[in-house]
Amino acid sequence: EHIKLDIEKSLGFVTKKEVFKFEEESKKHLISLQKGTGKGNDYVGWVELPSQISEKDLNDLEATANSLKERIEVLVVIGIGGSYLGAKAVNDALANNFDHLSPNENPIVLYAGQNISEDYLFELMQVLKEVEFGICVISKSGTTTEPAIAFRLLKELLEKNVGKEEARERIVAITDESKGALRSLAEQENYKTFVISDNVGGRYSVLTPVGLLPIAVAGHNIKELVKGAQSMQNYSVAAAFDENPALLYAATRNALYAKGKGIEILANYNPKLHNIGEWWKQLYGESEGKENKGIFPASVDLTSDLHSMGQYIQEGQRNIFETVISIAQSNHSVLIPEDKNNLDKLNYLAGKHVDQVNKMAELGTQLAHVDGGVPNLRIELPRLNEFYLGELLYFFELACGVSGYILDVNPFDQPGVEAYKSNMFALLEKPGFEEASKKIKERL
Ligand code: PA5
Repeated sequence: EHIKLDIEKSLGFVTKKEVFKFEEESKKHLISLQKGTGKGNDYVGWVELPSQISEKDLNDLEATANSLKERIEVLVVIGIGGSYLGAKAVNDALANNFDHLSPNENPIVLYAGQNISEDYLFELMQVLKEVEFGICVISKSGTTTEPAIAFRLLKELLEKNVGKEEARERIVAITDESKGALRSLAEQENYKTFVISDNVGGRYSVLTPVGLLPIAVAGHNIKELVKGAQSMQNYSVAAAFDENPALLYAATRNALYAKGKGIEILANYNPKLHNIGEWWKQLYGESEGKENKGIFPASVDLTSDLHSMGQYIQEGQRNIFETVISIAQSNHSVLIPEDKNNLDKLNYLAGKHVDQVNKMAELGTQLAHVDGGVPNLRIELPRLNEFYLGELLYFFELACGVSGYILDVNPFDQPGVEAYKSNMFALLEKPGFEEASKKIKERL
């Protein structure tokens, strides 16, 4: 059994023919990704990643996770963008919603370096003063400002808390094999390190140590996650176009885009998937939003957001389509009880699973949105577990590569993220930015 994609409820807005128009092209792009002959081909290492990760690599990651677990109650993952979103998405999808209130045998994973908020760092450090913590610092370039600031602060705090020797045992650095400030620092301090390959970009790195180490520390089964990704890798290579979720998704969203649907909303009906939405937004936004092109990726948590964004989705500007992630079967069982007085008039639901109500909300919403002019795609996972999440992650990555090629952009670079950095450096008078500093100050 695999995750499934159903495009039926988008076919009132695009014809099957318009979707199938992309069949040959998407197959060709799949081959370019596999052979590394398309745009950005020096960054397609992620395509074969699931089948290339060895048992030895996974054992090494688990051993490092276990040795951290023996020493710490909290792991702070320091990273930004592709260097933390995958780990956060998977950890949140698999964790108990209330883990922070009843800690189990696994460390709690917190995140830093994904913002430059002074209050966030102050409050985090207040918490960390009182607990046994470790750090997993992740930066492919090794020079990104946000994580570098967080690491400088937390490294100092950790060394103050437990001494330099013990701190060294609790810090793991994940970075480039030879380049960048984090590599030199890690070597000088003799930290345990893992490498991010040159040919895997940040937003495609969840199945490298970048995602796998923090996921293993949180107590999730990284072997099952990789197995799921492998299963989707094998299936995507072999499946016919109309049964191939990645190709069909890439084709359908491009067919919708050609019809003026410039915004895609990823919707979920389980709060654990909130950060899958955040990871997906980075993957698609950073891969496709260039050369004045690209579908704008947005996300909502339902049914919560039906009481806010639901109004816009139903009746706002008709330039959106919706992709729903649905979990076929919940992991736990809660039945709605019978109530003698029935003052809340809910007895018609007595004896039903809460999930049955959620599913009818999902179906009712899908039909309402389609009636309101919003094409609907639906991705179904049989269960929310490591294996199907692995399938989902790889499915989205592969579809993103194919979709970016259909759009005729390089889905593996991100030239646009540099603009804010150079302005910030000029404003902060970073050495080397003297000329830019002068110029930007004239604009203020
Ligand atoms: O997808 C990407 O490449 C980016 O989002 C990066 O992951 C992000 O900018 C962080 O970069 P780095 O890992 O070099 O610190």
